[in-house]
Formats: sequence, structure tokens, C-alpha cells
Amino acid sequence: MKIASSHTVLVTGVSGTLGWNLSRRLAGRCRVVGTFCSHKVAPSSVEAIGLDLRNIDRVADAIRSIKPHIIIHLAALTHPDVCEENPQVAFAINRDGTREIALAAETLGAKLVFASTDLVFDGSKGNYCEDDEAHPLSVYGKSKLEAERALLDICPDAFVFRTSLIYGFGSPVSGTFLTALLQRLGKGESMKVFTDQKRSPILVDDLARAIVLALEKDLTGRYHIAGSEVLTRYEFARLVCEAFGLDETLLVPIKMAEFDYVAKRPLDSSLDGTRFRHVSGFTPTPTVSALGRLAENYRNQKWK
Ligand SMILES: NC(=O)c1ccc[n+]([C@@H]2O[C@H](COP(=O)([O-])OP(=O)(O)OC[C@H]3O[C@@H](n4cnc5c(N)ncnc54)[C@H](OP(=O)(O)O)[C@@H]3O)[C@@H](O)[C@H]2O)c1
Repeated sequence: MKIASSHTVLVTGVSGTLGWNLSRRLAGRCRVVGTFCSHKVAPSSVEAIGLDLRNIDRVADAIRSIKPHIIIHLAALTHPDVCEENPQVAFAINRDGTREIALAAETLGAKLVFASTDLVFDGSKGNYCEDDEAHPLSVYGKSKLEAERALLDICPDAFVFRTSLIYGFGSPVSGTFLTALLQRLGKGESMKVFTDQKRSPILVDDLARAIVLALEKDLTGRYHIAGSEVLTRYEFARLVCEAFGLDETLLVPIKMAEFDYVAKRPLDSSLDGTRFRHVSGFTPTPTVSALGRLAENYRNQKWK
């Protein structure tokens, strides 16, 4: 579906990293309404409305009053440890909230796009394609997988993308692994980084561009949208240090098993994004060039 200037696009989670960057990309092309929960922030030209997915009874009314042609559902409880410690809240927001949004999209006849995660896989294989069986290790992964299933049951023409570690600059209130590295290492503080967790990091601007491409191609069903390389957190962090001129000796290499996490994480949840690249024409930016560009923007304070 071509995004027309007469269209209204609803982006849930506008105060989050992807929601902020995607809604900024869409603003100017059409009317964009973004939802926040506890942080009332949105890029200029984006209408911000408060919507807490725990208030399930409010969701349908709120969406009906906006009358979106497209709903891009990104809002979620995204921290795996918080989800693990609060499973009821995680399932309420991530699964039940998503189901409610799908019901509203179905009633309105709106195109629905949903963000899922590489953490639906257990990490025993790596390089996962869309046909591989999901087997989440954590409450977060389970809640997102159940959300995918509920949503596709209600809206079989929805576009569901699973993505990996998102990097770049977020909203004024959100962060990424990259911004955490900049904050810690920039202050001369050390940071423990896994040497054995493999993912397919993706630049947030690339992901926003990919979602627009998926809409334009009217894709339906599940796709993996991943960065161009499989990297451990440690390898990624070293590239960040190189690009931003940070002291690499502040990185403390550790194995995942040595870290006292609440939620289990897969060792290798890297994604095979070939299918999406073929159907959409999407090409992810190579990590070194993406980081180089981000570092230049950072120096010029252009990310705000
Ligand atoms: N970040 C990654 O590396 C990654 C990887 C794979 C998949 N994903 C998926 O991609 C999507 C976007 O991720 P992100 O990193 O951009 O997210 P994020 O920065 O953590 O932002 C989460 C968003 O969800 C909203 N939210 C939280 N609780 C809510 C509630 N109860 N009701 C309504 N909204 C609520 C937050 O609003 P407030 O801040 O206003 O409370 C915020 O806008 C998510 O669906 C995530 O599962 C992310």
C-alpha cells in the first residue's frame, strides 16, 4: 500500500527507539499519530496521545477515534528481565494488548504491522529463517511469539517482522546498546560485554526504511529484518569504540553464563534476512559504515 498524504498512520510506542525514528521518517508524508505510555515525547509534526495497553478497555475506543489507515504496533514491555519478573504484566501488554490492537485493525480495515523479536528462538542454531521453529527461552520471547500468533489469527494480512538488536540513537527518553556504551565508556567507566552472544544488529534508520518498503510492497505474513552481519556484543562494541574513538580497554569481555541475568538469553539468535531482502529490495548498511555515519552525526550533534 502506497502511503498517501491523505492517510493517517498510527505508530504505537512513539517514545521508544524505533517508534521515534519511524514516525519521524513518516511525518511530512502523511498524518502521523504516535502513542506513548509514561513518557510524553514525540517528534515534531507527530500527534502524541497517551495509551497504556494495560487499560485494555481503552484501546479500541482510542484507535477508533484516530481512524488510522495503517497501524504500526511497536509498543511493548521490551526489557527481558522486567518481563521475567512480571510475567502477568508482560503478557498483558505484549500479547493481550497486541490482540486488542489487531481486533481494532480488523474492525477498521486498517493495514497492520507488528514488531517481533529474534528472542522467539532458543539460540541453539543461529541464522534463523522464517520457517525455523520458534522456541523462546524467556517470558519476553514467549509473550511476543503469542502476540504474533494472536495477531495473525485475527489479521492474516498483517505484516509481522522479527528483528534483532536495534542500534542508533533513540528518542530523548529511550536508549540502545550503542547509547549505553557511549554513556559508560564516555565517562571512563568500564562495561561488561558478552563475547558469546551472537545477533544481527540493525541500524534503526535501516529498520524504519525497511518497514516503509514492506508497506509499499504490501507484504503480508512473517519476515526477518536483520542487519548485514552476525556479531557478538563484544565484536559490535569494539566497532563502536573504533568509530567513536572510545577506549576499547574499558570493555570487559565476559561469557553470558558468567552474568547474573534473570531472563535466559539465546546464545545465537542471529536472523537470516534473505527472504525480506529479496522481496523488498532492502539492503542493510554495513555496520562499519553505519557506525561511521552515526559517529559523524554524534560529533555534529545531528541525532537530536
Ligand atoms: N530494541 C531492540 O533491540 C529490539 C529487538 C527486537 C525487537 N524489538 C521490538 O521492536 C519494538 C520496538 O522496540 P524499541 O527498542 O524501540 O522499544 P523501546 O525503546 O523499549 O520503547 C518501548 C515503547 O513501548 C511503550 N510502552 C511500554 N509499556 C507500555 C504500555 N503499558 N502501554 C503502551 N505502551 C507502552 C513505551 O512507552 P513509554 O516510554 O512512554 O512508557 C515505548 O514507547 C518492540 O516491539 C520490541 O519488542 C526491539
